[in-house]
Amino acid sequence: MNPTPQILVLDAGGQYCHLIARKVRDLGVYAEVRPSDAPAAELAEARGIIISGGPNSVYDPGSPTVDPAIFASGKAVLGICYGQQLMAYLLGGKVRKGDKGEYGFATLDLAEAADPLFSGLAGRQQVWMSHRDVVAEVPEGFTAVGSTETCAIAAIAAPAKRLYGLQFHPEVVHTTRGREYLSNFVFGVCGCRQDWDPRHRVPMLEQEIREAAGNRNVFFFVSGGVDSSVAFALCIRALGEDRVRGVYVDTGLMREGETDFVRRLPGVAVEEAGELFLGALAGATDPEQKRRIIGEAFVGIQERIAQERHLADERWILGQGTIYPDTIESGGTANAAVIKTHHNRVEGIRKLIESGRIIEPLKSFYKDEVREVGRELGLPAELIERHPFPGPGLAIRCLCSEFDAPVRVAEEGFIIPVNSVGVQGDSRSYAPVLAIDTADHDRATYLINRFSSVNRVIAAVQTREPLASMQVSACSLTSARLDRLRRADAIVRRLSHQSGYDNKVWQFPVILIPLGCGPAWPDSIVLRPVDSVDGMTARSVAIDAGLLEQMQAELMQVDGVAGVFLDLTHKPPGTIEWE
Ligand code: XMP
Repeated sequence: MNPTPQILVLDAGGQYCHLIARKVRDLGVYAEVRPSDAPAAELAEARGIIISGGPNSVYDPGSPTVDPAIFASGKAVLGICYGQQLMAYLLGGKVRKGDKGEYGFATLDLAEAADPLFSGLAGRQQVWMSHRDVVAEVPEGFTAVGSTETCAIAAIAAPAKRLYGLQFHPEVVHTTRGREYLSNFVFGVCGCRQDWDPRHRVPMLEQEIREAAGNRNVFFFVSGGVDSSVAFALCIRALGEDRVRGVYVDTGLMREGETDFVRRLPGVAVEEAGELFLGALAGATDPEQKRRIIGEAFVGIQERIAQERHLADERWILGQGTIYPDTIESGGTANAAVIKTHHNRVEGIRKLIESGRIIEPLKSFYKDEVREVGRELGLPAELIERHPFPGPGLAIRCLCSEFDAPVRVAEEGFIIPVNSVGVQGDSRSYAPVLAIDTADHDRATYLINRFSSVNRVIAAVQTREPLASMQVSACSLTSARLDRLRRADAIVRRLSHQSGYDNKVWQFPVILIPLGCGPAWPDSIVLRPVDSVDGMTARSVAIDAGLLEQMQAELMQVDGVAGVFLDLTHKPPGTIEWE
């Protein structure tokens, strides 16, 4: 039994909403998420309320709102990002529509304030921003206590009413003192006491699995990644080896050596299906279409295997390693912005979920927590420390194009007509990429904030011909292009591992883009090393010159490669993957 939540987080549709609840739980205080418009009377049990961020403007018709009675109840309320704007707007302040917004790092100047929320925090500090609109005038009774260069009202307070707002995100790791803000709110303002031990989760998870499975057995499709392996191991621990089975489907979209790695895992059988997937993907260029095709092919195989192994009867249910970001990023919660269709949220799987024949023990966890659970289960470090790899595999790292299009020379650099996905102000956008000639991360951030038509900046490391004369060619997913990407990825992984660079990055996607110079060299490689804690936000990481030179030299030897680039974009505004 979980304790009564002391903090309730109201979901205004932001990607970071559940992260807030979990950060509060990490402080030892039990917190839960509720819909934003929950009536104040239903929130009475909590000591404090946090209103999350969200992609909307308070002026959008139908944008999430809260019961205004919460502001008059005497209960402490903290609004974060959109939550701050909503609080200001509902209480009579003014919100101004932003034109270009502010994404990524900012420096906050926080005034001295004799108030528990800001206790010990005055001064300059790094915060993380992701917004367009801003509060332009505080409501009566409030004062502005913090500002950044582009946001005059970045923290507000009405201590007498116990109401507070922060324009930045204290819940993400890039706000360096974020934990202190949350801790001050939870303990200093709300007076919560510790009632939650994060280590309780393994026995709690086992119990949940036993309850969900009843007397049925669990069948898993393992991917060799951390999530499905930890979920698999948890089920074995909860139910015993005899009641849990695993199959790994080789989709032909795996990295070099991957299937051999998985063959070494205990209790897992391998199913070869490369031809089926490549056949289904022939001619597809649209990212969402590619994801859908893969998801459907996967479901088809799942159903076939289940039939062949007589798993279709009522004695079996499906286990999955879905983690929290998989569900929010496909609109799995009430308000989260619809971002992309993950393979484990396609129609066929949804039906299984609706009929209750599915177990997803990790679905409210973030990657770093999944690793902790894995460690508690005693799984080997080689498995736990693996970088995450997306379900649709290399397919979403092999970009395609419907059209031929030349590179365009612009004042600031070169516009590469390849659309990549980005996240700006909590909603996603596909936009062309800007290439510049130096690996300057600060300049990249500046350029993205300045030009709203671009969400990603890359540096040209080496190209076979001048960038201005290169072009994007129409192409789809072929086995030749996948082989090219697989070889490039294997080179980067080897060099990254040998040099120890592996340990500096959280994930290191290698992307193939159809930017070339003639039919002999149709593609280029983009390196995308990022640091992150949970994949929700990320920093592009620099590579030292010697290692980059080695990678570039070997990559340029790969058949058909016309150039090598380095992605300089943080998340936000650029997602980790390019599709
Ligand atoms: P983005 O690109 O959204 O990625 O910044 C965040 C994390 O999610 C992974 N990712 C996926 N995982 N299926 C998956 O199983 C997908 O379609 C997918 N897209 C992104 C990504 O690798 C990163 O770790």
